[in-house]
Amino acid sequence: MTKPCLACYLYAVFVLLTVSTSLSAPSPASSLYDTFLQCLTQNTNSITQLSSILFAPTSPTFPTLLENYIRNARFNTSSTRKPLLIVTPLTESHVQGAVICAKSVDIQLKIRSGGHDFEGISYISDEPFIILDMFNLRAITVDLEAEVATVQVGATLGEIYYKIWKTSKPVTSKVVKGNKTIRASVVALFLGRANEVVSILEKEFPLLGLRAENCTEMSWIESVLWWDDDKNLGAKPEILLNRDLNSAGFLKRKSDYVQKPIPRAGLEGLWKIMIELGKAGVVFNPYGGKMNEVPSDATPFPHRKGNLFKMQYFVNWDDPSPAAAQNFINQTRTLYSYMTPFVSQNPRSAFLNYRDLDIGVNTFGKNSFQEGEVYGRKYFNDNFERLVKVKTAVDPENFFRNEQSIPVYPSKA
Ligand SMILES: *[C@@H]1O[C@H](CO)[C@@H](O)[C@H](O)[C@H]1NC(C)=O
Ligand SMILES: *[C@@H]1O[C@H](CO)[C@@H](O)[C@H](O)[C@H]1NC(C)=O
Ligand SMILES: *[C@@H]1O[C@H](CO)[C@@H](O)[C@H](O)[C@H]1NC(C)=O
Ligand SMILES: *[C@@H]1O[C@H](CO)[C@@H](O)[C@H](O)[C@H]1NC(C)=O
Repeated sequence: MTKPCLACYLYAVFVLLTVSTSLSAPSPASSLYDTFLQCLTQNTNSITQLSSILFAPTSPTFPTLLENYIRNARFNTSSTRKPLLIVTPLTESHVQGAVICAKSVDIQLKIRSGGHDFEGISYISDEPFIILDMFNLRAITVDLEAEVATVQVGATLGEIYYKIWKTSKPVTSKVVKGNKTIRASVVALFLGRANEVVSILEKEFPLLGLRAENCTEMSWIESVLWWDDDKNLGAKPEILLNRDLNSAGFLKRKSDYVQKPIPRAGLEGLWKIMIELGKAGVVFNPYGGKMNEVPSDATPFPHRKGNLFKMQYFVNWDDPSPAAAQNFINQTRTLYSYMTPFVSQNPRSAFLNYRDLDIGVNTFGKNSFQEGEVYGRKYFNDNFERLVKVKTAVDPENFFRNEQSIPVYPSKA
């Protein structure tokens, strides 16, 4: 998002010094809002009226602003702790100012971007906090020649797909979907023509009995709309730009990786429990293919070669009662517990984007590193160490943190 440059860095260091001197004598009557606004004024290089990007709980727009990007209604209750302030930067300088000022008032900063945050950790906290809400920073540029897309953090997936489509419109891929419902639905997308996928599956998966009439050929952008919602067939791509503000159901997600085939009896046991539980579902996403070609240490995401598929345990509901939440969350935990012998072990790997606080949280006490290692190894496997090294080098005070952030090495002191 922000382009690092030496000048910005020097500027930030300089203003930090100024802030600490000016804060050493705060006016006793000033509210947090006033202090923060004054700090922002001193630390941003901007012509914007800064009161238009800073909101206190007393502001009439505060509740909507907070709720607009809540994507899980479980964290939209009156008893959920609310932020002390919301900052909505319009420029990179505003972001820098917000970080400097949160640090100078010594209040935790939670950073919210465009994506699905299943556990709400970008906008809730157990301690007093400020939200840095990045929804205004959502520029996307697509460089077809270099095959590089640059995306600001506030963008949604729909906006990204739309932009890619707009930029590369002349190129379309035909895709195909098949569908078989006995106890399971097989929903698949193939980049190619229907007859190609039919002949591949005849060889590789004859039991499925896929035929050309089971497939629908469509352009790539139509397939994006269809994945979003199969009722979208025939809809205009512009619906991908809908940010769907302030609407969310209740949900819980968990994940697993599977590295050896699950024996038939194991699967039959799973179906049985799912039928008993009644609501929670399971999604299997196949890995392999191209995924195997990327070394597991090439990026922080480590789940490459050796994985047959990823599993997602999911449940969605709309009854706001705590009993419903307890029952449905418990269903996903029951499935997860049943699957223990069939999934990856040491660590039992998990997918970061299906954020799941059940697999460990950080309390930032003296065991912060050990706590971080518990969930960190599940999400990042052997890449965890390198991430801790980077984190310790760039943020030794652990200012940027959330319930499952990368910890710093314990200090030697
Ligand atoms: C997939 O199967 C379900 C259940 O039989 C059916 O309602 C749906 O129309 C099917 N979808 C397609 C694209 O065939
Ligand atoms: C494919 O279509 C045939 C004929 O409509 C149907 O009997 C069969 O169940 C379909 N198979 C799949 C995998 O959807
Ligand atoms: C949050 O709760 C408020 C008040 O009940 C409601 O108006 C709003 O639509 C809810 N938003 C989300 C995202 O759940
Ligand atoms: C789910 O709830 C039942 C009944 O309260 C309890 O016995 C069980 O331990 C729970 N399961 C999990 C995995 O939390």
